[in-house]
Amino acid sequence: MRKNIVAGNWKMNKNLQEGIALAKELNEILVADKPNCDVVICTPFIHLASVTPLVDATVIGVGAENCADKVSGAYTGEVSAEMISSTGAKYVILGHSERRAYYHETFEILKEKVKLALANGLTPIFCIGEVLEEREAGKQNEVVYAQLAGSLYDLSAEDFSKIILAYEPVWAIGTGKTATAEQAQEIHAYIRSTIAEKYGKEVAENTSILYGGSCKPSNAKELFANQDVDGGLIGGAALKVADFKGIIDAFK
Ligand code: 13P
Repeated sequence: MRKNIVAGNWKMNKNLQEGIALAKELNEILVADKPNCDVVICTPFIHLASVTPLVDATVIGVGAENCADKVSGAYTGEVSAEMISSTGAKYVILGHSERRAYYHETFEILKEKVKLALANGLTPIFCIGEVLEEREAGKQNEVVYAQLAGSLYDLSAEDFSKIILAYEPVWAIGTGKTATAEQAQEIHAYIRSTIAEKYGKEVAENTSILYGGSCKPSNAKELFANQDVDGGLIGGAALKVADFKGIIDAFK
């Protein structure tokens, strides 16, 4: 059966010392009070090699927030999937709406990133989601379908099964405006139905689909209670241990 997962996306926050302190504090709390779901923290690249050995891998997985779309070579400033993997990190967020919007990541670029992540043993947390105008025009299903088909639906069923999806409506990210539990369930069910069409019911049933966008301790339980919502990808609330723990505890 699919896993319930709460993943934190630290984005461009926390210097190295602050990141280490946050990871240590979270680790202590979760070792003492074991979570009922998988917990992942996705940190800036620079933190990975320090944070990975600090946390108990049985309670916290570590991931990056991006990777290069090239194997290696003359790509100044880029960080490859192999480099991420060499730090002990196991996950990588790909296709976040901030990277699509600000760094012009196309479906094709993301397709390459997904392939390289998988080739290096990383689990992609692949983000999809519509902007406000698309939601208002009732185009959200069309948009997420194009994102899935454009970057993932060339994968074999075996490779697709290694992917975690995160539905993050762009209008809910960092805005304090959360999708309602009904809106989340409706589109998660749609996403699962398209996976079933492409890869069959078993693959669809085993795919974890996380919700992201202004998720907090006060709304996590209601969101995660939905049949097709398998946890969350958390931004702001992942930067405070008490808030992140509150969201993790939604599975208790
Ligand atoms: P917030 O939880 O801050 O809205 O961010 C969500 C997000 O973008 C996680 O990837």
